[in-house]
Amino acid sequence: MNSYIGIDLGTSSVKILLARADGEIVKSVSRDYPICYPRDGWSEQNPADWLEQTIMGLKELLDGYDKSTVKGISFGGQMHGLVALDSDDNVIRPAILWNDGRTQAHSDYLNEKIGKRVLSEHTANISFAGFTAPKLLWLEENENDNFKKIAKIMLPKDYLVYMLSGVHATDFSDASGMLLLDVKNRKWSAEMTKICHVKDEWLPRLYESYEAVGTIKSEIADELGLDKGVLICAGAGDNAAAAIGTGTVSDGSCNISLGTSGTVFISKDSFSVDSANALHSFCHANGKYHLMGCILSAASCNKWWMESILETSDYAGEQKELYKYLGKNDVYFLPYLMGERSPHNDADARGAFIGMRPSTTRKQMTLAVMEGVTFALRDCIEIAKNSGVCIDKSLICGGGAKNEIWRIVCANVLGIEIQRPQIEEGPAYGGAILAMVGCGEYDSVASATRALIKIKDSVLPSPDLVEAYEKKYQAFKKLYPALKEVYKQI
Ligand code: XUL
Repeated sequence: MNSYIGIDLGTSSVKILLARADGEIVKSVSRDYPICYPRDGWSEQNPADWLEQTIMGLKELLDGYDKSTVKGISFGGQMHGLVALDSDDNVIRPAILWNDGRTQAHSDYLNEKIGKRVLSEHTANISFAGFTAPKLLWLEENENDNFKKIAKIMLPKDYLVYMLSGVHATDFSDASGMLLLDVKNRKWSAEMTKICHVKDEWLPRLYESYEAVGTIKSEIADELGLDKGVLICAGAGDNAAAAIGTGTVSDGSCNISLGTSGTVFISKDSFSVDSANALHSFCHANGKYHLMGCILSAASCNKWWMESILETSDYAGEQKELYKYLGKNDVYFLPYLMGERSPHNDADARGAFIGMRPSTTRKQMTLAVMEGVTFALRDCIEIAKNSGVCIDKSLICGGGAKNEIWRIVCANVLGIEIQRPQIEEGPAYGGAILAMVGCGEYDSVASATRALIKIKDSVLPSPDLVEAYEKKYQAFKKLYPALKEVYKQI
């Protein structure tokens, strides 16, 4: 049976899986790379690390496997990062990532001087510090020599596509987060490229996520032992890929991702924008559209709390007996470790614990971290609700979704059913599905997800807990506005 490779180029690691055409996962591997925070609020990675770990991961994945069955490779990738190459295809500087806040002033310039209305008309979005366009303005002002060297720009997973296929390509879902794409009409916006001093020849060619951009480079095929006809398909931004991997493709369906970032992803058959542009309005990987709210720190808050603060890797031990505190915890946590995107758009925001007393325990603080992240996701859901989107259930994926207590917190803070798909590798599985469609194994993304995605279990909200968490959310909502001015000062 034919098989397909899905590669999820994440922020802390690359996750690679091999799936058969019937959806069964044969093997998966994960390889870490470092993230560098050169200054407070900055975050960078070296594209060479992505490539090296991806090639090593592919070798490990394929070891001992009948490689002649592999027909296609596709991707999900961390969004918005700026990868710039010079005319000799050298990476000019480390990639500036999606959660880097250095561009707040350039993002404010776009929103205030160019104007949110103009940005929204051209791109369907306003600017956020993490988006790619303000990164280009930052580079032009602060590293002009580097800016002048630019011959090509691309997003993180597109660097892998380029190195594996030699084709300078991107897909509509990932390109949406550059603030250079006319999302509604699925083409580069001439007005925005002009505003951001971007030359047309720097831009990758646009593809649908499931389209093949070319075949694998012959030297890479030889190195991996793959057939030279293996197709490289464009892939998607990690959230759109995760939505494919969880089957979030029908109009109005929702997927929550608890990864390094946290997102609420709402699939839409037709293009739409909310009145304040509070949610991102992006292309979906199935050829349609989606709305999305993104919080910058989600499962990463839990990792920070466990590993950096409690100095433990025993997550299960720390999370034991948390059930008895559900709905009763009087400690609050604000999850803005890297500033916040949706809905506050504030690179100065930072994390905070509030409400401790002499009797406060480590357990309560552990639970508060998960609750705080979930309240921040609820902020995104409230915007969706206010703009007329009705969400009564959601799929869930990402590292945090493996944690039962967190799924229960989600169901009750959000007041909706939380469904877990049988296969939890959201973006990597989505990547493999896109490769299947690109290679003609299925005739559309919808028919592939219908055939392949099954629900494993679900958590229903319980009225008592929903009521208790509603009260807590009303208090949580007041915390960011109360601290906003303080954040500016500190
Ligand atoms: C989405 C976003 C994050 C990254 C994380 O807009 O910035 O979800 O894609 O990988």
